[in-house]
Amino acid sequence: MLRKKLIAGNWKMNGLLSDGQKLAKQIAVEVKALKPACDVLVCPPFTLLTTVKKALRGSKVMLGAQDCHVEEKGAHTGDISPVQLKDAGCDYVILGHSERRADHGETNALVKAKAQAALEAGLKVIICVGETLQERESGKALEVVEKQVKASLPNNATASTVVIAYEPVWAIGTGKTATPTDAEEVHAHIRKVLVHKTGKIVASRMKILYGGSMKPANAAELLSQPDIDGGLIGGASLKAEDFIAIVNKAK
Ligand code: 13P
Repeated sequence: MLRKKLIAGNWKMNGLLSDGQKLAKQIAVEVKALKPACDVLVCPPFTLLTTVKKALRGSKVMLGAQDCHVEEKGAHTGDISPVQLKDAGCDYVILGHSERRADHGETNALVKAKAQAALEAGLKVIICVGETLQERESGKALEVVEKQVKASLPNNATASTVVIAYEPVWAIGTGKTATPTDAEEVHAHIRKVLVHKTGKIVASRMKILYGGSMKPANAAELLSQPDIDGGLIGGASLKAEDFIAIVNKAK
């Protein structure tokens, strides 16, 4: 298989210790029993990383965080470094999510710098890109996403360490999903951009996930598109049953 699918749950700012632990345990048990064809990742908030890591022990479910700082350590109140995430047992970190770009003014240049720092710390990264509704309606979706990919991708990107997530902003948490055809159009375009950035071999092996109201009912069709290599799931990743139903659709 050229690209093994990845189903990743982005828990965002949700969960207390008890329910985070319960959700992680349910996912770990199901994944152990089902031995799915895809890789599985959960990305809880910082406060739950250690608890979730323990709950996942003995399963193949990987652990990720939702952001990191560029620096390794120092006077940055409230921030967490990639080295600290690695130390806490993380495999992955999500970077440049549209909620961080919007709420914290994160630029492509900052996302790229964070990605490089994370790779140096031994983490894998998921770089998020996606257009707003206004950009889509004015016919600029491909152009916007292309610019984000070109400017956010770290210099030393490889297919085993970097994953791209296409998350149209208008589809996040809205219940509106991109049609499989529209999503595939953007994914195929991203892959073309990657050919120029990373060369043909890396581009053909790099995973491109779809995110934005993915749920059990629409996952199979989205995941069957040739350039959709998995999902970055928000709301539906908070219910073990729904998340596992999506995992089962990723063949
Ligand atoms: P929803 O699945 O809730 O739309 O969120 C998608 C997302 O932002 C994942 O990062």
